[in-house]
Amino acid sequence: MHERQTAGPTVPEPADPGKNWQDHDYVATWMDRDQHKALLDFPRALTAAILADDEVDPRLIVDIASGPGDYLAVMLMQFPHARGLWADSSPAMLDVAREKLAHFADRIDFQLVDMKSLGELDVPSSTDVVVTSRAAHHLSNEELLTFYASCLGLLRPGGWMANLDHTQPPGTWKERYKRVRRRDQAPRQGPELPSHTHDQAPPTVAEHLEGMTAAGFCDVELVWKTYHTGLFMGRREPS
Ligand SMILES: C[S@@+](CC[C@H](N)C(=O)[O-])C[C@H]1O[C@@H](n2cnc3c(N)ncnc32)[C@H](O)[C@@H]1O
Repeated sequence: MHERQTAGPTVPEPADPGKNWQDHDYVATWMDRDQHKALLDFPRALTAAILADDEVDPRLIVDIASGPGDYLAVMLMQFPHARGLWADSSPAMLDVAREKLAHFADRIDFQLVDMKSLGELDVPSSTDVVVTSRAAHHLSNEELLTFYASCLGLLRPGGWMANLDHTQPPGTWKERYKRVRRRDQAPRQGPELPSHTHDQAPPTVAEHLEGMTAAGFCDVELVWKTYHTGLFMGRREPS
């Protein structure tokens, strides 16, 4: 994969990427202002539908950088035999997730883990499904490849990976999407949410697809995309 372009002038200069997520006030404000939330209901449900169509009956689903745990909740709702493993590096998000996922408390293990060190994840058995959303776009191409390879390593043969993530649109599409979305959304009340920082532009669609393929996934596909957010799926080669 090529070197990723820099984030450009519309994204604040990096101070300490990921630091905001450690802050309870930032997390509370982000939860309040999450304007993507409703948009993501469909691709999350689509992930579950595709797994159901494949007659997957997962026993273990891992959600990496799970945050409030919305993706994991959709999966656990769809697959009643599954246990969930919530993983994220933010203790502030852990507090939120424990509350939000209380309904599934007896089916979820919570672990504070950095997605760049997935070897530290304590996984009780081989994993049927790995999901992750809106976090991997912070990684450099090299880190992204390592991340995808680590996810593949967690999966049993035939197991699935889904990454619902932001991408860098080509040419003028980034600004076009921004304008259209602004028109689409209710005006924000109250103080601006301080942006979390990005070292570089998110991966392009091609970089996600290439990264998954290079890591060893098969059946790699862009399953859904709206604005700059895409759902990428792939699976570990069945044995
Ligand atoms: C934008 S939120 C997305 C949360 C959730 N996946 C969703 O889509 O609703 C980003 C999440 O990634 C987590 N995160 C950021 N950097 C991380 C890292 N290096 N390792 C693990 N989690 C990380 C944050 O704590 C936060 O919960």
